[in-house]
Amino acid sequence: MKTIRDINVKDKIVLMRVDYNVPLKNGKIVDDLRVRASVSTIETLLKRGAKRVVLLSHLGRPEGRVDMKLSLSVVAKALEKMLKRVVGFYPLPEEGAKISIPGNVKVALLENLRFDLGEEGNSKEFIKNIIDAVDADMYVQDGFAVVHRAHASTDAVKEFLPVYAGLLVEKEVVNLDKVMNKPEKPVLLIIGGAKVEDKQPLIEKLVNKVDYIVVGGKIAADGYKAKNEKIYVAEDFDENAEGAKLDIGPLSTAKLAGMITDAKTIIWNGLLGYAEDPAYATASTITAEMIGEHVSAETVICGGDTTGFVENLMKEHPNLSYSLVSTGGGAALEYLLGEKLPGISAIEK
Ligand code: 3PG
Repeated sequence: MKTIRDINVKDKIVLMRVDYNVPLKNGKIVDDLRVRASVSTIETLLKRGAKRVVLLSHLGRPEGRVDMKLSLSVVAKALEKMLKRVVGFYPLPEEGAKISIPGNVKVALLENLRFDLGEEGNSKEFIKNIIDAVDADMYVQDGFAVVHRAHASTDAVKEFLPVYAGLLVEKEVVNLDKVMNKPEKPVLLIIGGAKVEDKQPLIEKLVNKVDYIVVGGKIAADGYKAKNEKIYVAEDFDENAEGAKLDIGPLSTAKLAGMITDAKTIIWNGLLGYAEDPAYATASTITAEMIGEHVSAETVICGGDTTGFVENLMKEHPNLSYSLVSTGGGAALEYLLGEKLPGISAIEK
């Protein structure tokens, strides 16, 4: 991959994809890892003389509708504090319109790309309109967590601009390569979370790459049936008064704990229950603590909600440590599978 270190960015307007799909609660960012992770590339581009960096991201799944609860304005404010400089925040451009950004604004962020169906539709017109609106000279892909999507800002963009990898994409790829190059066995994969339709096919493919898979979260609560003896699906649950299964139960947690103890490589993606509510965070807390204390294993935490949960726990328990906390969720799993990812394929070689 060609990275931003291989190119001259002096006086160039750089359009840069980041993944600011951060977990939110009551309009506040619960974990800013994905924002922090983008700072190094932005600062490097500016230090090397880029005229301006214009950032693009999605947040949530608004499916083409403007939903101000999913506005990126909250991220623009957080980024401003981290960079200690003004971050201009602009709506997506109307067709054929220019975005007028004052000369002193070196960093700008555009509104949630998924407010327009063109993003997920991989529309060439949609991304070309943005490129023209900001007069971009080149494109940097640094949204590692979204490189598994063939969307306008990860795929179609390569038709119009040269695409280079940012420092985060480079770092994630190098680190994940290390984990998958001859991992020490047994390799345990723990899968939870809410994106059932995404995770199910991944479980079936990843089963050939690892020794054991434990399935919790909404996938298990929805009654997922294992199709392979290497897969253990949580079998008991903590329920609320209405009978909704909101956490995996003590029996399943105990089985998982035994597997964590035996494993030499552990990859965890997706919370095991509705951990936003402390009443249903028990299994995820025990898992995070056991993995974080398992010093003789290579441990990888991936996915926005899972990394957020683990990072918050680390603030209370500084003894916890993990080999790699990846910003990618589905992207990290697909990368580990060896899949060809559109956002990586688009990068110049
Ligand atoms: C993620 O959080 O995994 C990425 O931001 C991709 O989001 P998506 O699953 O809604 O495409």
